[in-house]
Amino acid sequence: MKTVRLSLIGFGAVGQGVAQAILQKKEILKGQGIDLCVVGISDSKGSEINARGIDLKSALLRKKQKGTVAKSNDSAFDIIRNVEHEIVVEATPTNIKNGEPGLSNMSAAFNSGRHVVTSNKGPLALCFSQLKEAAEDNGVFFRYEATVGGAVPIFNLIHESLAGNRVIGIEGILNGTTNYILTRMEQERLPYELVLKEAQELGIAETDPTYDVEGIDSACKLVILANSVFGQAATYRDVEVTGITKITPEALELASKNNYVVKLICEAGNGTLTVAPRLVPKKHPLAVGGTLNVASILTDLAGRITISGKGAGSIETASSILSDILYIARNS
Ligand SMILES: NC(=O)c1ccc[n+]([C@@H]2O[C@H](COP(=O)([O-])OP(=O)(O)OC[C@H]3O[C@@H](n4cnc5c(N)ncnc54)[C@H](OP(=O)(O)O)[C@@H]3O)[C@@H](O)[C@H]2O)c1
Repeated sequence: MKTVRLSLIGFGAVGQGVAQAILQKKEILKGQGIDLCVVGISDSKGSEINARGIDLKSALLRKKQKGTVAKSNDSAFDIIRNVEHEIVVEATPTNIKNGEPGLSNMSAAFNSGRHVVTSNKGPLALCFSQLKEAAEDNGVFFRYEATVGGAVPIFNLIHESLAGNRVIGIEGILNGTTNYILTRMEQERLPYELVLKEAQELGIAETDPTYDVEGIDSACKLVILANSVFGQAATYRDVEVTGITKITPEALELASKNNYVVKLICEAGNGTLTVAPRLVPKKHPLAVGGTLNVASILTDLAGRITISGKGAGSIETASSILSDILYIARNS
């Protein structure tokens, strides 16, 4: 049996989803020779540390009842640097101004010789090549499937299943909030402001929806894709971005009459990176509705491959994180 010790840095929707997924899969994974053991959990108020393994059920219950997992004042850094473990799961909030606290957490993990699995886009949208280099210099894995497309296994598909192919271009919808808004505007013929309000009430859009509706979140994800797949050294500021705030129900109706839908499409290829509303034929594989995400990858050998699925959600995002954890467990 191979015991793989983990820390969960950030215990919000994603961190708790990972704890639930580990609880749910623990026995099955043991049957496959892998014992996942969480030795440290950290939120903004403190930490729980147990070198023999944290009782995840109690940690989840304590977080629910008390709003924190903390049993001590130890910080995320204390866990990353001082608690013996193999993998740091970094799931703190995305910050695209300076990448913190994720950037420092990831750097500390690499410098401590620990692998990193993350869902946090901020540090990768700002400093992808530096982080990749730091991981390589320290001989550890850096896996980030959950940063783009939530549950949709885009990086695994490209780097593993399509290995040997040259990727010519990638197009996709990488933001579920804007996809939901455009879908509802088209279906209900409602103005942007009303649908945004509905999305906020349903928890699909943030109170401050700027990053989503202005296309910045999509741009961050596109940059991570381009850097990972094309070896670019772009940051999200290199993306030409147009959001969805100016789209009217009339424009969507006109598009619909001509058998098109309007989608916020991310495009990478030929060295250019764009995020903009585009007309997509209603029967095109990119014309997915609701909060779904989709990525369409054009390759030289396999041709075009398109995958879609849930771009967010606690357990859905944990699915991508778990696959990265298991990749490391099997390959280290
Ligand atoms: N939710 C999704 O569906 C989804 C999907 C894909 C990617 N992501 C990305 O995954 C990351 C986590 O998302 P989330 O939805 O789980 O966010 P969240 O619910 O806001 O959780 C963030 C967690 O980080 C903790 N935290 C904040 N500052 C910290 C610090 N300095 N040290 C330790 N912990 C700290 C917070 O503590 P408190 O609990 O004390 O506030 C909270 O537990 C984000 O970067 C997000 O963009 C999310």
